[in-house]
Amino acid sequence: MKIAVLVSGQGSNLQALIDANLSGQIVGVISNKANAYALQRAQTAGIQTAVIEHKDYPSRESFDEVMHQQLLDWEIDLVVLAGFMRILSSSFVQKWHGKMLNIHPSLLPAYKGMHTHQRVLNSGDVYHGCTVHYVTAELDAGPALVQCVLNVQVHDNTDTLAQRVHQLEHFAYPQVVEWICTGTIQHLDNGSVVYRKQLLHKPIQFSQL
Ligand code: GRF
Repeated sequence: MKIAVLVSGQGSNLQALIDANLSGQIVGVISNKANAYALQRAQTAGIQTAVIEHKDYPSRESFDEVMHQQLLDWEIDLVVLAGFMRILSSSFVQKWHGKMLNIHPSLLPAYKGMHTHQRVLNSGDVYHGCTVHYVTAELDAGPALVQCVLNVQVHDNTDTLAQRVHQLEHFAYPQVVEWICTGTIQHLDNGSVVYRKQLLHKPIQFSQL
């Protein structure tokens, strides 16, 4: 399986995927920011990179189309969004239906969108974590595959939560990608997901409680 990782920033999840020695091959990394540290991580690992800056394109659709062509050139089977900070057009999402993953720093469907750690603290939640899900046109709403849960501690702040959630992400994302590479997780044309030959009705959960 040929994998592309889309990034905008630090790329710690990209690093976790590189370090996991997946059964699939990360053949390319695309960044919409030329200064993303993730690009250095890719280069160090000998992975080809492409910088496609959204500000160089007149519309979301034209930017997405250039990315789509790059993914086709690389003959990609699976697109992994890892801190990619652009909303994708519905036509792009449709083209990669069932072949594109995202990781989100909350227990979806709670806290879609930004500033999840602050919102968890504001609500006084006891649980927090991350979700790996397939990407559909609606933001942060596609079928959830894996969730990792932690217990919010009294001394937690946004920095400690970000760090603790990142640790969970670095476990969850390589695990899900490996399961897809090995066929343990399959996406069916009707949008449902199969895990170990059974329909997946709710995300597989790991907890650090
Ligand atoms: C992660 O917290 C991920 O959940 C979110 O963006 C962040 C990316 O971090 N989508 P990194 O660039 O992989 O370090």
